[in-house]
Amino acid sequence: MPAITLVGAQWGDEGKGKATDLVGNRVDYVVRYQGGNNAGHTVVIGDQKYALHLLPSGILSPDVVPVIANGVVIDPGVLFEELRGLRERGVNTERLLVSANAHLIMPYHRALDKVTERFLGKRQIGTTGRGIGPTYADKISRTGIRVQDMFDPKILRQKLELALHDKNQILTKVFNRRGLEVDQVFEEYTGYAEELRPYVADTSLILNRALDEGRTVYLEGSQGTLLDIDHGTYPFVTSSSPTAGGACAGAGIGPTRITKVVGILKAYTTRVGSGPFPTELHDEWGEWLRQKGGEYGVTTGRNRRCGWFDAPIARYATRVNGITDFFLTKLDVLSGLERVPVCVGYDVNGTRHDEIPMTQTDFHHAVPVYEYLDGWNEDISHARTFEELPKTAQTYVRTLEEMVGAPVSAIGVGPGRDQTLELRSLV
Ligand code: IMP
Repeated sequence: MPAITLVGAQWGDEGKGKATDLVGNRVDYVVRYQGGNNAGHTVVIGDQKYALHLLPSGILSPDVVPVIANGVVIDPGVLFEELRGLRERGVNTERLLVSANAHLIMPYHRALDKVTERFLGKRQIGTTGRGIGPTYADKISRTGIRVQDMFDPKILRQKLELALHDKNQILTKVFNRRGLEVDQVFEEYTGYAEELRPYVADTSLILNRALDEGRTVYLEGSQGTLLDIDHGTYPFVTSSSPTAGGACAGAGIGPTRITKVVGILKAYTTRVGSGPFPTELHDEWGEWLRQKGGEYGVTTGRNRRCGWFDAPIARYATRVNGITDFFLTKLDVLSGLERVPVCVGYDVNGTRHDEIPMTQTDFHHAVPVYEYLDGWNEDISHARTFEELPKTAQTYVRTLEEMVGAPVSAIGVGPGRDQTLELRSLV
């Protein structure tokens, strides 16, 4: 039955935690299918604020089974820390399921992420430094270590010896760093094994059975479309597939199961890390958006780069994900503007582009072409229906909807659980 996929439609940080939380008690499973603790989902419940990095947002809804599926990369130390933190705040974490096929982030992945970034200097990607890229690289090179390997000490040691044979050469000879001891890493990871064992399951089997029984599965993407390894602004991307297609491979369910793809879209644009960003504002308006929107990274605390809404990007997200519904977040942040600039295309060396240019070189040179919509002054954070929004805010939403090619089904007007206008059910 229904499998609903949630994807970030821009460069991540669109407010996905809020969207998942909205449907949290109407679904049976919430599944993370890619990425790792590079993500940062903020969920506000009452006066409590939760920042989740690796765990699915569904962990906060008592009737939901949260699942970390095969496509995720897991740093076990981080996982246990996050579980402990939630337990201390009274959250029941026993329902969690973790795929036996998920890959493990190892200490050498974290070390390599940091030294390669340092080595790149000005050309760095601006990664979160959590070892994500090197872990996915090993997965593709077939030298990765998976959750299930932790339960077979002989295999774990063999794989570790093989991996460290190479990694230590690179760490010591290329980057002049200290190598890692097999014994030490082996001890650390066998230590994690028993704590992890109760959660480990064949998550693809469980999810498919659940779908057969008519249950609702919510596939929660991290990062965003423009950070996708294939469809993003390569090489300034993450190393996994946050797009809707990645949800199938990353969770072990077939594409025919997916009934809805919800794109999370911020009413303006932000990005962390390096890479092209045509509507980025380097003036006081960028700072205005950052401060009003609280645009500071949940994971790294870095200032997010801020800019106006970019319609070609959102339209691109509709196309590569097959988005059926949009959740427009943070509309309240735009209150107080006389006119709201919206990027409708780009000028690239004198040529008008209505879609994202085919090459990175052109995208780097893309200068936004703006249209200006009427703004509104009212505080809209108390609105609970679309009709309660000022007319100009309603027009802003309707105009965006036409530009991006899919209906806006929900609107966020503040961080709280109740500050959402649901125009159509997202489930
Ligand atoms: P990595 O995923 O740590 O390898 O970082 C690669 C790029 O993706 C960098 O530009 C990061 O800033 C960005 N990135 C990774 N995770 C997130 C996220 O959850 N939100 C926004 N950007 C992210």
